[in-house]
Amino acid sequence: SDIEKGTYPHYMLKEIDEQPGVVRKIVQAYQDEHDQLTIQPEILEAMQAADRIHIIAAGTSYHAGMIGKEYIEKLAGIPVEVHVSSEFGYNMPLLSENPLFIFISQSGETADSRQVLVKIKDMGHASLTITNVAGSTLSRESDHTLLLYAGPEIAVASTKAYTAQLAVLSILAAVTAKVRGIEIGFDLVQELGIVANAIQAQVDSKEEMEQIATEYLSTTRNCFFIGRVMDYFVGLEGSLKLKEISYIQAEGFAGGELKHGTIALIEEGTPVIALATQEAVNLNIRGNVKEVAARGAHTCIISMEGLQERGDSLVLPKVNELLSPLVSVIPMQLISYYAALHRDCDVDKPRNLAKSVTVE
Ligand code: AGP
Repeated sequence: SDIEKGTYPHYMLKEIDEQPGVVRKIVQAYQDEHDQLTIQPEILEAMQAADRIHIIAAGTSYHAGMIGKEYIEKLAGIPVEVHVSSEFGYNMPLLSENPLFIFISQSGETADSRQVLVKIKDMGHASLTITNVAGSTLSRESDHTLLLYAGPEIAVASTKAYTAQLAVLSILAAVTAKVRGIEIGFDLVQELGIVANAIQAQVDSKEEMEQIATEYLSTTRNCFFIGRVMDYFVGLEGSLKLKEISYIQAEGFAGGELKHGTIALIEEGTPVIALATQEAVNLNIRGNVKEVAARGAHTCIISMEGLQERGDSLVLPKVNELLSPLVSVIPMQLISYYAALHRDCDVDKPRNLAKSVTVE
């Protein structure tokens, strides 16, 4: 069954491997009989009625929300704010007249997010939950639900739920754009197919990922992830993954922000993993890599076909730049997995953590 490990040593590795299939399954689940991407009309109405969208989430789902904001703003043209749920309830921004609240939660049970849902419902606002669990608390209590179809996620470290969240958010944004009469300029079904193949190529390159983990992370105390634009958000997710399963202190930074303080932490041999998948900022991020390398950092560049330079540690297949996070997160997951494995950590059940945080 879906929830058995089979021959896999860990659920996390199994769930990483399932990602190409999850993306394909989502495309199917959101297609109508004419192979057109489709979203329930009530949800599209709620999207169109919104003068502003607030995404509410925690942890990995929050990182997916940051990318969801890019999709909804860039494709559908609706302004979006992204909030950590535990903060939002106690420090609400000034709300517009017709906000729509989108809750992103793998489990649908995160207490911090549920508290926000209760508050905004009291205020009379509309809500949509994007979750992997049909019938979960957030799904039952919000006006609308979009499902992730990722299958049960058992490992504490979220992997396939994140890629599923990005895929569903891209579909929501693209279909909303269509009903708003906005031409997005590419065929999302086709692009997600290319993405699924690119993810497959990454999960088939485990030796490379293990080698990077060995070279950069076997003895280090800390590690930095840098990137710009979409790559910055993926770096945040990479640092969370590495922290929670390998206990290496890791931080994600916007490439340009590092020199405003954090660069003081760079010492001889400090690992800095840089993502370079965004053409508009390729020179900028490479400049940031030179800045840290000049201070002794052990730099690892993960780039994308068309943007690569000699010496890059890994070159990802070319995909639509907006969708690159679905591909570039795979090395983040696998490098973290092998770093944890090499350090004899309990990959599926890291210390101090629960799969879903059902207390405030
Ligand atoms: C992910 O690796 C974490 N274990 C954690 O940050 C998780 O994403 C967070 O607790 C939110 O959970 P949810 O998506 O079920 O709401």
